[in-house]
Amino acid sequence: MADRKATLNIEGMDPIELPVYQGTVGPDCVDVSSLAGKGVFTLDEGFASTASCRSEITYIDGGKGVLLHRGYPIDQLANNADYLEVCYLLLNGELPNAEQKAEFDSIVTNHTMVNESVASFYNGFRYDAHPMSMLCAVVGALSSFYHDSLDISDPEHRRVTTMRLISKMPTMAAMAYKHSIGQPALYPRNDLDYASNFLYMMFGTPCEDYEVNPVLARAMDKIFILHADHEQNASTSTVRLAGSTGANPFACIAAGIAALWGPSHGGANEAVVKMLGEIGSEDKVDEAVKRAKDKDDPFRLMGFGHRVYKNFDPRAKVMKEACDEVLAELGIDDPHLKIAKRLEQIALEDDYFVEKKLYPNVDFYSGIILRAIGIPLNMFTVIFALGRTSGWLAHWNEMIEGNSRIGRPRQLYLGSDLREYKKR
Ligand code: SDX
Repeated sequence: MADRKATLNIEGMDPIELPVYQGTVGPDCVDVSSLAGKGVFTLDEGFASTASCRSEITYIDGGKGVLLHRGYPIDQLANNADYLEVCYLLLNGELPNAEQKAEFDSIVTNHTMVNESVASFYNGFRYDAHPMSMLCAVVGALSSFYHDSLDISDPEHRRVTTMRLISKMPTMAAMAYKHSIGQPALYPRNDLDYASNFLYMMFGTPCEDYEVNPVLARAMDKIFILHADHEQNASTSTVRLAGSTGANPFACIAAGIAALWGPSHGGANEAVVKMLGEIGSEDKVDEAVKRAKDKDDPFRLMGFGHRVYKNFDPRAKVMKEACDEVLAELGIDDPHLKIAKRLEQIALEDDYFVEKKLYPNVDFYSGIILRAIGIPLNMFTVIFALGRTSGWLAHWNEMIEGNSRIGRPRQLYLGSDLREYKKR
């Protein structure tokens, strides 16, 4: 039931009445779906003003720098919950009680191994293959193993697949890293929590015991939470669009991984550290800011700006605090952090960035903390994909449960009109 009505007046056409819907919070939405029947489309390149769906999972207020997961502020979740608790919240709409959390953790812990044949996939990649290419390929291939949970119309199949992906993503991510350094993959351990298990599989070896540093494990878990979900971003929209065709969930998540890889999206954390390395020292920051403002220079400050946030990305604030904690704990004096803080200070005082409302985003500090934990540069976006898997799955489930129609945008056609074929 529409809350209000809008009237579209186009010269030479009768007025068109459109329903307007009000959300719990945030902008109202004009439902333009009836326009196609009246011979007119809306055009919104990059979907800056387009709501693609109805959702109850995550709300972002870009102007105020607010991010809520099922109504809970991201900083409260990052500072009080663990990642699996946030996964449960995103998937089920409510925080788990102690019994529900224990059961959820147990299911994840007992499904972290992958089929041994999956392990052999990695041997087919070049030693220097980018881990994102391996993760994308392996996740997409999982549908050839789990025939018992591919019926997306069956809620139990969807639940099983959802839990399999959340459980196995750290194992597959760590296997990609181990392959890239020529070390044997380690089996997951059931005595470790989710983040500790991941760090163990990343940095442990068969040759000796490996003790996970609890401060690093907590920081890793917080990083997973900060990347868990973010409304209808490019990769989540990709998962929804792929899912709307009825494609199997493994293919949909692989599509999300592929979309996330781009440097304008999830690849930005890797690009930030490369950028800080190129800047090299604090006295070169002014030059970098000057280049970022130069229209003729393709250089941009990676980790700055956001399609939605026109204020501080609340995740960047939490990430910055975690960064300071980890570097202090490890006694690391990372020159990149000094350059990053100088860059942030200058950019936030510079008219260009102030006018365009370009603030540090989630990727600005994440690269520094990942480096401090020991995560190699080419694994940064894999970490993002690992955390975002819960958000992708929450949206995929919400879309399937909502019986969404296949997504099929239209266009403003500017090509040739009808013409007859003549050999040239
Ligand atoms: C993520 O959508 C999500 O929610 C994504 C994400 C998630 O959790 O899923 O939050 C994760 O992707 C974070 C963003 C990571 N990307 C980067 O840090 C790359 C650097 N940022 C930019 O490429 C850019 O800001 C985007 C891609 C993030 C946003 O692009 P928009 O919304 O299309 O904005 P725009 O490119 O049109 O920029 C608006 C203006 C432009 O100037 P004008 O043409 O208006 O004169 O701001 C300028 C841009 O040139 N600008 C920058 C800049 N970002 C934008 N100038 C210098 N440095 C930058 N980083």
